[in-house]
Amino acid sequence: MSLLALDDVGKNFGGLVVVKNLSFTVEAGQRVALIGPNGAGKSTVFNLITGVYPLTSGRVLFDGVDITHLPMRRRIGLGVARSFQNIRLMGHLSVVENIMLGQQPKAGGLAALLTPYRLMPRHRWIEEARAALDEAGLGAYADLSVDSLPYGVRKRVDLLRAVVANPKMLLLDEPAAGLNERETEDLHDALMAIAAKGVTLVVVEHDMHFVDRLCERVVVINFGEKIAEGTMAEVRASPLVREAYLGGDATVGAGHA
Ligand SMILES: Nc1ncnc2c1ncn2[C@@H]1O[C@H](COP(=O)(O)OP(=O)(O)OP(=O)(O)O)[C@@H](O)[C@H]1O
Ligand SMILES: [Mg+2]
Repeated sequence: MSLLALDDVGKNFGGLVVVKNLSFTVEAGQRVALIGPNGAGKSTVFNLITGVYPLTSGRVLFDGVDITHLPMRRRIGLGVARSFQNIRLMGHLSVVENIMLGQQPKAGGLAALLTPYRLMPRHRWIEEARAALDEAGLGAYADLSVDSLPYGVRKRVDLLRAVVANPKMLLLDEPAAGLNERETEDLHDALMAIAAKGVTLVVVEHDMHFVDRLCERVVVINFGEKIAEGTMAEVRASPLVREAYLGGDATVGAGHA
């Protein structure tokens, strides 16, 4: 049984067909990329999996459960976590407080998390958050406000916020966007370490070199429809993919506006 299965999924916004007859599966422990041109529907697929939008048609199964009609909170509880294309951290809060927001699903909600934080500064959630920051090499930033951090560090904190929920599957929407070479390398290592703990990764990303190194399998969509699936080498060889996305020099993805 696959960890994630999209079964004939469709999504319309008004008259606009954004996702069409989309089926693919992700096995537990896999590192999978979802790629395609700008506007292909990649972020929308993540929004359908996580419950941001209702499906127009089809089903989504996660870990044996039909989650098609479950609210977002329930899906998070089942082990689905994500990062957004635009970082969603609380800029005025400290790094450790932002990490604690990510612990909510397992801590039993915000109140359980923050109230003890005020009353008992050494509460186990803080210790766990600090340990996670230390393990990620971000311990030095723990007490700084997120607003004061360089972009690359904010991206790492955003990732860690998703990871501390102990998800079974992590959906990452353009994690390498805006990162320099060194930061991209650090991100690669961080994601391999997360995957090594058994977390299944689904990554939307335009940096094809990054995708090639990280992911074992690639699903390519164009205008909301799957046009290829397989290893990077296999999808690169597809004429449909070359025409729609990885044209000419297939080592580089389409430029991202
Ligand atoms: N809430 C919405 N209402 C109407 N149209 C939407 C909505 N969200 C997305 N779309 C449209 O759906 C299409 C797919 O958008 P989506 O953001 O999923 O693409 P994407 O593959 O993530 O693109 P990019 O690589 O630029 O991030 C676009 O035409 C977009 O304008
Ligand atoms: Mg997108």
